Amino acid sequence: MDFLQVFNMKRGFSKAGIVGVILGIFIFGMISDVLAGPPPMGYGHRHHLRHHRGHHGQGFAGEGTCPQKRYTDQAPDEIRDQPNPLESSRDTIYAGESLFQVDAQPVACKICHGVNGNGLGIMAQGLNPSPRNFNCKATMRHVSDGQLFWIIRNGSPGTGMPAFKDLDDKQIWQIIHYLRQFSQPRRK
Ligand code: HEC
Repeated sequence: MDFLQVFNMKRGFSKAGIVGVILGIFIFGMISDVLAGPPPMGYGHRHHLRHHRGHHGQGFAGEGTCPQKRYTDQAPDEIRDQPNPLESSRDTIYAGESLFQVDAQPVACKICHGVNGNGLGIMAQGLNPSPRNFNCKATMRHVSDGQLFWIIRNGSPGTGMPAFKDLDDKQIWQIIHYLRQFSQPRRK
């Protein structure tokens, strides 16, 4: 093997090397395109949550537990017997829905109680006791408006149910009208 042969071999190798690298980049590009999947078609529509109930990782579909055991303390009598002072109207229910699904601080109710009110929100799995399933008529018909009010305001200590001190009375009563919808037959 003379010097020229070695030189040529080396050139040959390095040529192949360069071609290999270029080919590699090309193939890698194709594969990563495939792995990245199709362009995000739904992008820009995610905020229309109300039109996609139960989708987009907002919790789990299904009936939820029913009847359901309640662990909440009982509200004081005078609060428990207080009926909802607001008329049920589309505006009231809509205001309640907005708070439940999005606006309530520190966290929207749907995170635990589910977009569909079934108690199967994305945070529900780690919670014991489970969040209330508002679809469950068998349980909900024994719970007065005043009781709901008191728990929303004060939380249920020792469970995942937080106190919502930032909601004013009116907002809580709006939410309660919305919650009642879940167990009314016309929704089913
Ligand atoms: C971090 C999770 C979580 C969030 C957020 C949450 N809840 Fe709850 N909620 C629970 C759990 C858990 C229970 C069950 C508590 C129990 O049985 O003691 C519960 C119970 C309730 C009850 C049942 C009261 C009763 O006596 O049966 C009502 C009403 C309620 N939540 C309303 C709401 C509303 C309205 C919001 C939003 C403003 C909300 N929750 C946000 C976890 C949550």
